[in-house]
Amino acid sequence: MARTLRTQVAIIGAGPAGLILSHLLHLDGIESVVLEMHTRAYIEDRVRAGVLEQGTVELLTNMGLGDRLHREGLVHTGIYVRWGDREHRFDFEDLCGKTITVYAQHEVIKDLTAAAKAQIVYEAANVSIHDADGRQPRVRFQHNGEEHELACDFVAGCDGFHGPSRRAIPESLLVEYEKVYPFDWLGILAHAPPSSEELIYANHADGFALLSMRSPEVQRLYIQVDPSENIAAWPDARIWEHLHRRLGTPHGWLLTEGSIVQKNIAPMRSFVAEPMQSGRLFLAGDAAHIVPATGAKGLNLAAADVQVLTRAIAQFYKTGKHDLLTRYSDTCLRRVWKAQHFSWWMTSMLHRFTGETGYDVRRQWAELDYVSGSRAAATALAENYTGLPFEAATME
Ligand code: APR
Ligand code: PHB
Repeated sequence: MARTLRTQVAIIGAGPAGLILSHLLHLDGIESVVLEMHTRAYIEDRVRAGVLEQGTVELLTNMGLGDRLHREGLVHTGIYVRWGDREHRFDFEDLCGKTITVYAQHEVIKDLTAAAKAQIVYEAANVSIHDADGRQPRVRFQHNGEEHELACDFVAGCDGFHGPSRRAIPESLLVEYEKVYPFDWLGILAHAPPSSEELIYANHADGFALLSMRSPEVQRLYIQVDPSENIAAWPDARIWEHLHRRLGTPHGWLLTEGSIVQKNIAPMRSFVAEPMQSGRLFLAGDAAHIVPATGAKGLNLAAADVQVLTRAIAQFYKTGKHDLLTRYSDTCLRRVWKAQHFSWWMTSMLHRFTGETGYDVRRQWAELDYVSGSRAAATALAENYTGLPFEAATME
């Protein structure tokens, strides 16, 4: 016999989407239970991206989670882009009056789990969704070898790209749009003071490279590699050699090296599932959409989705009205597709593509020349990078 629990919102996944949602619901007096397949240590240590849009920082601050973020997060007012022998700094503050904050996703997760008021069930196995099209959905799972059933009013599928929630939407309703890029990103964490105060994106003949950071002592660096590459073929010296070459300038800029403490290779994909809802099941974050990391949007999109979802669920409990719930997918997708476009555009402008010719490279350079030289174009990059306003997504 399954043990039965009851809550208002069953949340699958304790990533940024699930944990922010749970906390926002709590602040609105709505109860939730979060089911996570991994351990707390695993999700708190998992190395992911690290750029927060200004709106995400404001959200976390308003949720009462800003203390460590403001103490340890690195506020950046721009980014550098390098190509050929050129470099341009996009001054976000000047262009659109906004900034970004570099603060690792797993630090956001630690702040969220420390503050969590909802029950988080770690190591929840075989999570499955039932009756989401009726008024009383249920989520079944196993924990410590026992069967459990969570009865709820709503299910939030915040379980990332590989989770079960998206697959619980009937196939006949779901359309998936996907673009897989012909390259991966090899990422490292290195114990070395950042070689630049701000991020550097480099378009180089050998492939894209990115310099980012985590703290005054730790750099996060990426290089574009072929999808067939094996991490074993990338000893530290080879990675540094590529980083020096791809990020290097003719003006004597120096990349500081240090011990590499983490290495991984991640695919680059654009993906959107439509609609992001079916009955009382709502998808949020990576469960519904993926962006290539070049636009630094993944976590921020997840945070945007769950704000829309919280407003809709809160409206339902306060007034009994369904209209925000009904519009959830349309509201999110409008902003999601703009972020898709921006992430695709940054990716296309900065990487080497299989089969490209000298013509394609010159076209990329012309685009970079234009974006850096035109205030209008530079402002478009700045306002997308720092985060589009929410109003723009909800305006009729
Ligand atoms: N049962 C329970 N939990 C699951 C299941 C499952 N079957 N499948 C996946 N999960 C959990 C994962 O272990 C993970 O902790 O769901 C969580 C999903 O979290 P993320 O993958 O981080 O996705 P999301 O919360 O949407 O965050 C947005 O933006 O920076 C990008 O990809 C990066 O994770 C980031 C994302
Ligand atoms: C990171 O710091 O991990 C990072 C920064 C910018 C990106 C992607 C990743 O575009």
